[in-house]
This record gives sequence, C-alpha cells and structure tokens, in this order.
Amino acid sequence: MAGAHHGLGLLLALLLPAVPTSSTGTVVRINRAALSYVADVGKVSLQRALKVMVPPFLDQSGEVHQPTRTQTLDVHVSHLDLKFIAGFGLRLMATANFTIKVFRTPETLELMLPVALTADARVAQGPIRTPVVSISTCSSIFSPARVLHDSNSISPELLVLVQEHIKAILSNKLCLHISNLVQGLNVHLGTLIGLSPVGPESQIRYSMVSEPIITGDYIALEVNADLFLLGQPITLPLDVTPFVLPWPVGTKGTMATMGLSQQLFDCILLLLQKAGALNLDVTGELNSDDNPLNTSALGQLIPEVTHQFPEPMPVVLKVYLGATPMVTFHTNNATLRLQPFVEVLVASSNSAFQSLFSLEVAVNLSLQLSVSKVKLQGTTSVLGDVRFSVAASNVGFIDVKQLHTLVGTLFKKPLLDHLNALLGMGIALPSVVNLYYTNPEVFVYEGYVVISSGLFYQR
Ligand SMILES: *[C@@H]1O[C@H](CO)[C@@H](O)[C@H](O)[C@H]1NC(C)=O
Ligand SMILES: *[C@@H]1O[C@H](CO)[C@@H](O)[C@H](O)[C@H]1NC(C)=O
Ligand SMILES: *[C@@H]1O[C@H](CO)[C@@H](O)[C@H](O)[C@H]1NC(C)=O
Ligand SMILES: *[C@@H]1O[C@H](CO)[C@@H](O)[C@H](O)[C@H]1NC(C)=O
Repeated sequence: MAGAHHGLGLLLALLLPAVPTSSTGTVVRINRAALSYVADVGKVSLQRALKVMVPPFLDQSGEVHQPTRTQTLDVHVSHLDLKFIAGFGLRLMATANFTIKVFRTPETLELMLPVALTADARVAQGPIRTPVVSISTCSSIFSPARVLHDSNSISPELLVLVQEHIKAILSNKLCLHISNLVQGLNVHLGTLIGLSPVGPESQIRYSMVSEPIITGDYIALEVNADLFLLGQPITLPLDVTPFVLPWPVGTKGTMATMGLSQQLFDCILLLLQKAGALNLDVTGELNSDDNPLNTSALGQLIPEVTHQFPEPMPVVLKVYLGATPMVTFHTNNATLRLQPFVEVLVASSNSAFQSLFSLEVAVNLSLQLSVSKVKLQGTTSVLGDVRFSVAASNVGFIDVKQLHTLVGTLFKKPLLDHLNALLGMGIALPSVVNLYYTNPEVFVYEGYVVISSGLFYQR
C-alpha cells in the first residue's frame, strides 16, 4: 500500500502545476478606506483614459453634406466612487463632463456633455498568481448637452443630431478605454511577484495562493512567500494548520491590514540560517583594553590556556547558528530564541586556528517589529540570562560560572549588533511597485503579527 501511495503522490506531483505545497500564512486585506484613496489618486488616470477623440460629424441639415470637425477639449471627472461587491469584485461609479468643440461655420460651438459611468469589475487570481481585474459590465448614461457661451446660432434639431453623434461614439469607446486602463492596472498588480532581497544571497517572492475573498468591507488576498537561496527555491516545512486572520483586527479604518503568521517568520529565519547570515565571528585584538579576547585574559580563568600559550595570542569566537532560531508571539510580546554554538579559537601566527573549547549557548531575545516603506524591520535585546554549557574542551576542565561574565559580555554585544544590523535591513512585505505603507502600526497577537497601515502610491 505504501508503494501505491508513493506512486500516486508522484503522479499527482507531476500532473499538478507548481502550486506551493505549504502556505506561509500571509493575508493582505485591502479595506474600504483604501478605495477612497484609490478613487482619489485614480481620478486623474480615469480622466486621461476617457479623453476619447470624436470623429467629424456629417452635417446633413444643409444642402451640402459637409463633415464638421469636433474636438474633445476637456474631460472632467467630477466624482469617482469605488465599492466592493461581495464575492465578486468592485463597482466603479463616475460622473464626468465632456467639453466638446464643434467646428461649425460660421461659428464654432462648445458643448458640455455630462455622463454617468458604471462598471463592475471582477477581481480574481490570475495565471501567474497575481490579482487580475476584469470589467464584466460597463455602461454610460448621458444627460442632455448644454451649449456653452450661450450661442443661439444652433437649431435645436441640429443640437440633437450633434449630440446623438457624440453619444454614439462615446458610448462605444468609454468602456473600451476603461478596460484598457484596467489592463494597465493588471500589469502593475503583476509586480506583486517581483523578487526582493532578504540577505546578500537570498530572496523572497510573494504570490497569491487562492482566489481573493471579497466582502462588503474588504478584499483579502492570501499570499505565500517563496524563498530562494542562491537562486534556488528552498523547501519549507509543511504547515497543516491554515492561518485565519480574524476580522476586525488591528487599527479600525486603516487602508490595509496585513496578517503575518508565525509560519512566515519561521520560514524567513530558516532562510537566514541556511544562508549563514546569522553566523558571525567575534575577533580579539592584542593590546586592546576593551576587548579581553586574548589568551592571557582567558588564562586567568583557565590555567591550561596559559600553559599551552605562554605568549599572549588573540582569541576568536566563531558563532554558528546550527539550529533555526525560534520565534514566539504572545499578545504584545515577540521573543526570539537562539541556540548558537560558539567555538573559541586561538588565532596562531600562521593564520591557522586552534580550538580551545566550544560552548552551547541559549539566549532569549525580545523582538520589536516595525515597518518602513515596504519592509518589516526588527530590533532585538537580550531577555534574561545567556546560558552556557561546555560542548568540548581541549583545555581540560572549564568552570562555566567563571567564564560567564567574560564570554557573556564579549558575545552579547556583537551578537545583538549583528542581528540588529541584519534585521534592520528589513524583509520585504507583499507590495507592488511604487506602493508604500504609511503610518504603519504593528500588533503582536498569539501566534501572529498584524500590521495596520495607510497606503501611498508614488507616481
Ligand atoms: C459637470 O456636470 C454636472 C451636472 O451633471 C454639474 O453639476 C457640474 O458642475 C459640471 N462640472 C463642471 C466642471 O462643469
Ligand atoms: C588581554 O586582555 C586584557 C583585558 O582586556 C588586557 O588588559 C590585556 O592588555 C590584553 N593582553 C594583550 C597582550 O593584549
Ligand atoms: C514575553 O514573554 C516571555 C516568554 O513568555 C516572558 O519571559 C517575558 O517576560 C514577556 N515579556 C513581556 C514584556 O511581557
Ligand atoms: C527562553 O525562554 C524559554 C521559554 O520561555 C525558556 O524555557 C528558556 O529557559 C529560556 N532560556 C533562557 C536561556 O533564558
């Protein structure tokens, strides 16, 4: 049976497209407040998109059928409103005024034509696992045109004809232009899957894992982080418990709410550990007062060191994270648990290293999270004590208590400096090009982190 299962699993793996086997449990919720912002910044783009050229009008009122040139002078979107349609997508409602010049002889004419536009757009998961917006229905309702500058040289019959001509053209083209605008938006939304560096050799990429969830209050995208080390995807531990972000959560009325499950942090830490980014060397220097990393200082605590190295020699601590750090989230409290392995070596004259002893260390750090632009940053500080035990020794018996102060102080600051520099560079959060998080607030809950923030689109 086991063989059959194995065979079936292999077959499925070959048949199914490259769908992620596990989800890193990240949810991005775009709330109602974001729609007003999008409507605000989108007005100009809509206005530009609606600038439709109207071809000449064939004036059939006179004896001679002469083409009359028309020109769209201006489009003014006076109102743009967006709202969510639960289980479907978005509704766009706009009112615009078209100012159109009709080059009639002997006198040109300017018309103001108000139009109300309504379009429903479906929001779905696209083939490359990015959000895709598509217009499903679109309509335009025209109000009677107004003649500007109170020209009375036009007959009411002609005005009707001109208007019918313009309406026929516009009603055909406006929705087409709105569709084109949405296509451009889709290209932009596609940048969600762009690669962002995590460390020098590692990268992160987000993509959608399922169809978006749309309610009257928000649109939620469940995204997955794919992680790469030296260009190769790294396999992540499978998590069977799906991440559910409660609603409401975080700050009320923000444009975006992001839920980052512990699983995402575990994966990022795994990546950093695999990349070796967490490892560090702490190097001693001779004749340095503030760095007692030398054999004479160590020899005071371990006589065997002086015995083996009568001449003072610099000492190096090689800090190696063999086990992946563990992060724990409790309400208002994020902690990071590290279990570094520390090798204490003497750097002898011919740049070879000789191991004195090694330690197994356990340290808990408190983790403060913050967001800058599109990056999640962290700062750590030591929580409680640094615990040591001797793993191996080439210098006989070691009294750990005696070593405690020396190694503790020597190790703590460089470790924190290293981690804070690394976490300070930040991990890219899901986003698209030119979109930034503003006034972000970070909340820590049991097992996950929530970021509430505004959005800013840089044109
Ligand atoms: C556009 O038309 C509406 C009527 O539909 C009117 O109330 C509004 O003032 C017009 N806007 C401009 C800029 O002319
Ligand atoms: C070794 O470290 C101690 C403590 O910092 C310092 O006083 C001493 O000068 C150092 N020895 C050498 C040879 O650098
Ligand atoms: C955070 O949680 C850890 C582990 O449960 C605990 O030791 C620490 O005191 C807590 N810190 C705060 C500020 O509550
Ligand atoms: C770190 O925290 C865990 C969980 O609270 C605790 O069991 C462990 O003893 C702590 N380790 C150190 C070195 O303080």
